[in-house]
Amino acid sequence: MVMLSSEGEIVASLNRLIVTDYDAIEAYQAAISRISRGEDQATLRSFADDHRRHIAKLAELVRQSEGSPVDHADLRRLVTKGKVVIGGFMGDDAVLGAMYSNESETNEAYARASASRLFSRPVRLVLARFLDDEVRHREWLERRITMTPKGESVLPCM
Ligand SMILES: [Fe+2]
Ligand SMILES: [Fe+2]
Repeated sequence: MVMLSSEGEIVASLNRLIVTDYDAIEAYQAAISRISRGEDQATLRSFADDHRRHIAKLAELVRQSEGSPVDHADLRRLVTKGKVVIGGFMGDDAVLGAMYSNESETNEAYARASASRLFSRPVRLVLARFLDDEVRHREWLERRITMTPKGESVLPCM
């Protein structure tokens, strides 16, 4: 069917967010297999689940706009930012640092989208809730990377 141009833009923007979430999941899967502490693995797993939840809801919104949701990550990005890069890292700090940089991108993407006038208010509210998740992910990574002494968290585990 022919889409109104704004409807097409809505679908394209939501699909870009879906790709961002798939990229994050792939990177988390690589990170989880590289990281040594069980507590960290559990936290990263819960973050990956948040991204899965985001994808499910965004896909629903795409379908409501008569679009087809994207169902995979961006292969080129996986090489430059995701599992290939993380698979090559040696220590936990480097892996967590890579995830921090990935989450900075999810924060930017959701901040931009949740403020965009392209979307209706109810959709912006959904995106703002997801942005809260992304902010929480990045903040946890930031704390986990800067904690002291090395290897021991000074903050309670989530
Ligand atoms: Fe997300
Ligand atoms: Fe995230």
